[in-house]
Amino acid sequence: MATPHINAKDGAFAETVLMPGDPLRAKMIAETFLEGAEQVTNVRNVFGYTGSYKGKRLSVMAHGMGIPSASIYTTELIKDYGVKNIIRIGSCGAVTPNIKLRELFIAMGASTDSKVNRMRFNDHDYAAIADYTLLRTLVDTAAEQGKKVTVGNVFSADLFYGVQPNMLDVLSKMQVNVIEMELAGIYAVAAQYGARAAGILTVSDIIPTGEATSAEERQTSFRDMMEVALDAAIK
Ligand code: ADE
Repeated sequence: MATPHINAKDGAFAETVLMPGDPLRAKMIAETFLEGAEQVTNVRNVFGYTGSYKGKRLSVMAHGMGIPSASIYTTELIKDYGVKNIIRIGSCGAVTPNIKLRELFIAMGASTDSKVNRMRFNDHDYAAIADYTLLRTLVDTAAEQGKKVTVGNVFSADLFYGVQPNMLDVLSKMQVNVIEMELAGIYAVAAQYGARAAGILTVSDIIPTGEATSAEERQTSFRDMMEVALDAAIK
């Protein structure tokens, strides 16, 4: 049955859904990497597709920007469409000097300035973590493909513009390596509704210096990330 934000038929999604932020990226992934991909939802132009990859059924659907948007789509996918595994594929900005432009980063944990997990957790500090099996599959798949990845803690920021300047020092001191905007919400939604989630990201900018990848570099690191995410998704 359709939900307020997804108009797919029952059973329209595979057990595993790859989730970029951008709906047009979801379309591009479906058209480039999936066989026999069909669009299964289009509410608000937040597109979702199901097809197959190397013979296994697989879906891709956008989650939009920020924790509130990502929480809506992941909740409905898990609760109403029976999705079991969510892999966020996105980009992030590096904070600590050990993380370089174009690298791949796998998010073991997600810290945040959002209040959503305190709302869920009696106002205490919830440790939003990736599902271990999914995390390990992503890490092992990257190793099999000979790709360097860093595994660590992300900061899921509510503000893209206006992160407090001293926050960068705090993150660095606490070894929170990169900033993105969704995973603390997605990990908690997965826990709440009994699914598994993990995130793999490409480093698109170095936040302290403002350095950013060119369009061409973004394409290369995106393809590296997709090769890991797709092979991990069907294991
Ligand atoms: N995603 C990519 N770069 C980012 C940044 N600098 N802040 C938040 N999310 C990001």
